[in-house]
Amino acid sequence: MSRTPIGVGIVGTGRISDLHAIEYLQSANGRIVALCDRDASLAEGRAAAWGVSDVAITDDLDELLARPDVDLVEILLPHHLHLEAALKAIAAGKIVSLQKPMCVSLDEADRLVAAADGADRPVKIFENFIFYPPVLRARQLIDDGAIGTPLSIRIKSNAGTSQTAWAIPKGATAWRQDRSKSGGGPLVFDDGHHKFALAWHFMGNPSDVHAFIGKTTLHDDTWLDAQSIVSFRFPDNRIGNLEVVYSPELEIATQHYAQDDRVEITGSKGVLWINCGHGRLGNPPPVALYRDGSLTTYDDMPTGWEESFVLSTRHFLNAIANGSPPVLTAAEGRQVLRFALAAEESARTGKTVTFDA
Ligand SMILES: NC(=O)c1ccc[n+]([C@@H]2O[C@H](COP(=O)([O-])OP(=O)(O)OC[C@H]3O[C@@H](n4cnc5c(N)ncnc54)[C@H](O)[C@@H]3O)[C@@H](O)[C@H]2O)c1
Repeated sequence: MSRTPIGVGIVGTGRISDLHAIEYLQSANGRIVALCDRDASLAEGRAAAWGVSDVAITDDLDELLARPDVDLVEILLPHHLHLEAALKAIAAGKIVSLQKPMCVSLDEADRLVAAADGADRPVKIFENFIFYPPVLRARQLIDDGAIGTPLSIRIKSNAGTSQTAWAIPKGATAWRQDRSKSGGGPLVFDDGHHKFALAWHFMGNPSDVHAFIGKTTLHDDTWLDAQSIVSFRFPDNRIGNLEVVYSPELEIATQHYAQDDRVEITGSKGVLWINCGHGRLGNPPPVALYRDGSLTTYDDMPTGWEESFVLSTRHFLNAIANGSPPVLTAAEGRQVLRFALAAEESARTGKTVTFDA
């Protein structure tokens, strides 16, 4: 359906674009041909850093979309700009990869799902955590019956401090502080999307969601939505929670965000732990399994967080080639968005949000 390598145009060359570029720079199936950012000098800097100084640079999305050499548009914009950019890209006949969350409300999501359904090109909502190698291993173990039926998922997002973390541009923090642009808080909604995606991936759609969302003001007057706890129930008497804690003096080893993630899944006959994500607290085994009286640890897998981006991108390039559905589809992206928005709503109203299905 498309030429090989697929011509890729990246829209929004901010913080996260470095991790999206990795697979396109090494794959035989995709090739970056154009970059767009309202700050064209930023896009030029990325092109130089990635060793692709010959790509087209523009500050205008329409100009990028008009390019016949762009087959696939990778949209890495602030959340309030996702819908319009994705609709334009679909209308221009492009394959779309749209960073999470797909947009900021379910009304917007419905419009995007309808457009994706009507498109003859694939539309992917980019969610990388479910491609993180320890998560893939845990999923394989569960699918092989290692813990029996999963009954509970407990997810911990632990933000802290890090001497090795990458620099975050002021602009990337600024739009996240404005709910009209971000759609919700930086930890529970924005980063939380990944955690709700994990819960959805391992347990399915929730039936009920309840949240307490706290607020921490930092020394530079920015805020984080911690300490927070979100509880959920799934059909068939299964449960889960997401706990979001900011520990200001907790040193975390990471090359990316100063954060660590831990997951515990309890099944009918065993327990699985995923002990890392963005960062590392010491050297725990990435995956551990307890069953039948003994603990087995698994460390034969890459654990760099960037791997999740590489594998998510590779999966999409393969899906395009094979004609198979992307992960996530727009409809799946809506399910995860609904989960994340339910937490925001519950914290606002003090009530449990209940879904019919
Ligand atoms: N999967 C993950 O783990 C992960 C991590 C970080 C960010 N993200 C997602 O990636 C997206 C971008 O986040 P970020 O941290 O890179 O933000 P960022 O602010 O660093 O980058 C956004 C870029 O968009 C550009 N921009 C803004 N308006 C524009 C316009 N109208 N036209 C062209 N360019 C425009 C900005 O100049 C900026 O360079 C968000 O959807 C975010 O949720 C995902």
